[in-house]
Amino acid sequence: LLGAALLGQVAAGGAGAPAAAATPSSLTFDAQKYTLGSVVVDGRTVQYRAYENILYVTNPVDRKYQSMNVYVPVQYFAGQSVGGYTASTAPIFLPNEVGGYMPGLPGTPTANMGGDAIRAALAHGYVVASPGARGRTGKDASGRFTGKAPAAIVDLKAAVAYLHFNDARMPGNAERIVSNGTSAGGALSALLGASGDNRDYQPYLKALGAAPASTAIYAVSAYCPITNLEHADAAYEWQFSGVNDYEQLKFAMDTDYKMQRTLVKGTLTAAQIAVSNDLKAQFIPYLNGLHLRNGAQPLTLDASGNGTFRTYVASLIRDSAQKALDAGTDLSKVTYLTVKDGRVTDVDFGAYARSILRMKTPAAFDGLSLENGENDEFGTATVAARHFTAYSQQHTAVPATQADPLTVKLMNPMAYVQAPGTRTAAHWRIRVGTADKDTSLAVSAILATTLRASGRSVDYALPWNVPHSGDYDLPELFRWIDTAVK
Ligand code: DHB
Repeated sequence: LLGAALLGQVAAGGAGAPAAAATPSSLTFDAQKYTLGSVVVDGRTVQYRAYENILYVTNPVDRKYQSMNVYVPVQYFAGQSVGGYTASTAPIFLPNEVGGYMPGLPGTPTANMGGDAIRAALAHGYVVASPGARGRTGKDASGRFTGKAPAAIVDLKAAVAYLHFNDARMPGNAERIVSNGTSAGGALSALLGASGDNRDYQPYLKALGAAPASTAIYAVSAYCPITNLEHADAAYEWQFSGVNDYEQLKFAMDTDYKMQRTLVKGTLTAAQIAVSNDLKAQFIPYLNGLHLRNGAQPLTLDASGNGTFRTYVASLIRDSAQKALDAGTDLSKVTYLTVKDGRVTDVDFGAYARSILRMKTPAAFDGLSLENGENDEFGTATVAARHFTAYSQQHTAVPATQADPLTVKLMNPMAYVQAPGTRTAAHWRIRVGTADKDTSLAVSAILATTLRASGRSVDYALPWNVPHSGDYDLPELFRWIDTAVK
């Protein structure tokens, strides 16, 4: 928090709040251990203090990833304000750099990837804390995997606990932490927001020696979250059933943990179409069992997968198209839209799915040959990959075991919204582009409507024609944050 009264103390040696003296610990933030940096944002030089590679647990498994970079606009050490914020009121922007459920390093303002958001956030007056997190490919010296589920979410929670623990010693308000992430990182951002302070994670946090403090955050920004994994196969086939051509992106990692993507085209086999039909059929009772609503309207599906839920998802695409049309975008060649007198009056959801094409083959996430990143995410210290749904375990094409229910639950925000003893974030911003086919639009629609029903404020929209990506609308994101933190 770093109130004005503490500024002198911190500048003089970082004694901090009384709690610091009473709890000497390697988890105590040292305000003197910094370097100075600067970046140019929109022609303006932004100077900051960089506190880099702060270990956020006392018992690390992987020091490289279980550490955090904190960046603070220099004005906050001189009693000045930036963009209306002070050292005690500035929100803490918490971007993670996780992609593909791979290990994510702490972000920096000078990085190509993720750096944009950090630079812009500093210029805007936010304190930036970017935690690293373990991921599915991490190994220790003896070759054991160290980052399988739930490692990534436990690490992000430990980083949040560090920020709460040190709130009085640090600039920025730990009661106003705003998480940000894209794809797998968006899923983790949502999970962090959904599951604040839930006890299920305590044994893992304790084992790592996380700071004894809250893991709750105030707000979530999630771009195209690859989440609700154990229902994502069914949701994918509900959306893409009958779309038998695919354009698949194959992932491979280079030595820098950078994802390389190659496009593979194909057509589903008869066996894959049978799996698609099975999975689509599973989605209907799942969706109906959620008892979702849009306002007063129940969102349901009939036996063929049509109904008010499908109309609701189509209406999100309609709203997106209308916004694009109002901004002057030419939609005359978009065959799945009906446009009359400047109004988008109808979206043919089936034609939309056929037009964007499927990218994944069934089962899209819990692959029958354990071939997907998500299978790898649910491995163990000694088992590279596992199934995480009963269907794929039953239909497995290779010898395989299934992840235990608790591990699967620990990775799913849907399990924690409104759970007893849980502080779910109050403010949510969820963005998924209409050109995104990495997961079904149903996944974010279910999350957003569930959060709204639980009383959270949710800003959910599908930006027109945007593919699987994030951080493409930072000025709007920051406007939303500024409103949410007031
Ligand atoms: C990501 C993309 C995917 O399609 C997926 O299944 C998991 C993660 C990603 O980009 O992070």
